[in-house]
Amino acid sequence: MTEDGTTDDPWAAADASWRAWQAMTAPEDGAAADASAATPRSVADGAVVELREVSKDDVRAICRLAVAPGQMSFVAPNAISFAEALFEPKAWYRGIYADGTPVGFAMLSIDRDAPEYYLWRFMIDARYQGRGYGRAAIGLIVEFVRTLPNAHELLVSWVPADGGPEPFYRGLGFVPTGEMDGIEVVARLAL
Ligand SMILES: CC(C)(COP(=O)(O)OP(=O)(O)OC[C@H]1O[C@@H](n2cnc3c(N)ncnc32)[C@H](O)[C@@H]1OP(=O)(O)O)[C@@H](O)C(=O)NCCC(=O)NCCS
Repeated sequence: MTEDGTTDDPWAAADASWRAWQAMTAPEDGAAADASAATPRSVADGAVVELREVSKDDVRAICRLAVAPGQMSFVAPNAISFAEALFEPKAWYRGIYADGTPVGFAMLSIDRDAPEYYLWRFMIDARYQGRGYGRAAIGLIVEFVRTLPNAHELLVSWVPADGGPEPFYRGLGFVPTGEMDGIEVVARLAL
């Protein structure tokens, strides 16, 4: 934190401006209505989990999804992911929906030539965690990646920290490769 109360952390700065935007725009694009909408069922209770293409009609709803404050260092805000995707032809992204409600976001880096299939961003909104959506969405991503040329593994990387996603990924069968991507542990799921 600098003396004037700002921060040098670009993600925190992006998050602060995102929260300001959210507070200013919520009433005008239906977020207030979202808050009173019925909570989707958990997967155990039969929720239908889908990956949907993001359109101009739901991009704001996906940008509003957020992890808990203590998880912010594990994944970039979705608006940042959309911005990065503009400049990365390998980016492939989908909204994660449960019973028709947007609950999360996934972005892959797809390199069919290498081939390399990398789960670049993955999040479930804090309000909807622990309901089986993350596991179900990874299942759908795996199904999709298996249809791609010479897909033998799905890669991911995580920040090794208390409360981080490592137990989630290990529980799904991801195994560290021994490599690091910056500060992140690289892991693979054999397909
Ligand atoms: C990690 C994350 C995607 C999990 O999504 P979720 O919908 O809450 O996960 P699920 O409810 O499908 O849980 C699946 C299993 O993982 C376990 N699990 C999930 N998060 C966990 C955690 N942080 N620690 C330990 N176990 C965890 C669940 O207990 C469950 O286990 P079970 O099947 O044995 O009951 C979500 O917590 C999240 O968005 N975290 C913040 C962002 C993040 O870290 N993204 C990953 C970037 S690499």
